[in-house]
Amino acid sequence: MGSQWVFGYGSLVWRPAFPFAEQRPGYISGFWRRFWQGSTDHRGVPGAPGRVVTLVPARDGRTWGMAYRVEPDVLDEVLVQLDHREQGGYDRHELEVHDRDDRAFATALVYLARPDNPNYLGEAPLPEIAAQVRRSTGPSGPNPEYVLRLAEALEAMGVEDPHVDALAALVRAGRDG
Ligand code: SIN
Repeated sequence: MGSQWVFGYGSLVWRPAFPFAEQRPGYISGFWRRFWQGSTDHRGVPGAPGRVVTLVPARDGRTWGMAYRVEPDVLDEVLVQLDHREQGGYDRHELEVHDRDDRAFATALVYLARPDNPNYLGEAPLPEIAAQVRRSTGPSGPNPEYVLRLAEALEAMGVEDPHVDALAALVRAGRDG
């Protein structure tokens, strides 16, 4: 078995926490990133879920993130770790990742939370999402940290994501205000 690429678009962008041989920014087509997934195991608790990202199908969608190449000798261990980390409603998919020149450079494993998972929350007005983020915390830490670190990581990559940027601004405003 050869290397396996893993594509991250949420916490995996700023905290992969697994061994990889190479990392490359890239995008996948056909999806938008949205804070529509509930988190009861990382950024919230049962009965008081936080909000984390998933990918929502959209014909014109494009989501930038980070692709990681995992070597075969550590792959099994990394997949066990990722399956555990993403067990709150995400399942495995294989999607093509493209570079800045629109060249597909990998078919990557992507964890995606679909609307039929029990923690799915779906769409809500952004101020409501921001309020939920501000009051939520879980075993992995405060929910605002997830939003702000993702926004900072995307900014460092030169990626504009209007949904993430607008939510981060609301979360910051709520903190400062
Ligand atoms: C990902 O980062 O690719 C999956 C969602 C998350 O763990 O935040």
